[in-house]
Amino acid sequence: MGLKLKVFRPVLAAIAGIALCAAAIAGTAKADEVAVGTVGGPMQGKIGGPFTLVDHNGDTVTDADFRGRFMLIYFGYTFCPDVCPTSAVMMAHALDELGEEEKKVVPIIITIDPERDRPEGMKDYVSHFHPRMVGLSGTPEQVAVAIKAYKVYATKVFEEGWGLDEYFVYHSDVTYFMGPDGKYLDHFGSGTTPKVMAARMLAHMRESPPRP
Ligand code: NI
Repeated sequence: MGLKLKVFRPVLAAIAGIALCAAAIAGTAKADEVAVGTVGGPMQGKIGGPFTLVDHNGDTVTDADFRGRFMLIYFGYTFCPDVCPTSAVMMAHALDELGEEEKKVVPIIITIDPERDRPEGMKDYVSHFHPRMVGLSGTPEQVAVAIKAYKVYATKVFEEGWGLDEYFVYHSDVTYFMGPDGKYLDHFGSGTTPKVMAARMLAHMRESPPRP
């Protein structure tokens, strides 16, 4: 699928962003190893929870609106130069690998940068990755609730000479897989291939089928 992401800063700034994202991956690698390969595992009950956000059409949605479907959730931001678009592409490819089961899963991007990522911008962003991808934004307070519930690390990084609205967000790079009851099932760190993601999702889907 074609990526038409606009270049938002000069090359130097982009390189700085890559370094930040790489550091974020290194920081989460250890925690990730603990739970990978375990069904439910030590993260069960500790990840996820209620949220109220605004979708890419401007409608208010809550976590309860997704009940009955599996959620594949990534926290990122549209200005991210590399890691977020890569993860969104991986999500879309993993859905492709699911075949017929694909329809049971909702791919969701929740912004960690609500000041700059408004619903209209999220709509444009998610359209680059998957036709059913949902982009969620909201007030900083609403987003903070979701970030806390999913134990996401996100912090703004400013460089000298940049304006107040010019920053990168240093963030964890994890994709969550949640059940039709909204509860945590699994998560995928960066570097998990779409094939592996799909195989693990299918295993969970056999164990936790959507309620009729
Ligand atoms: Ni990113």
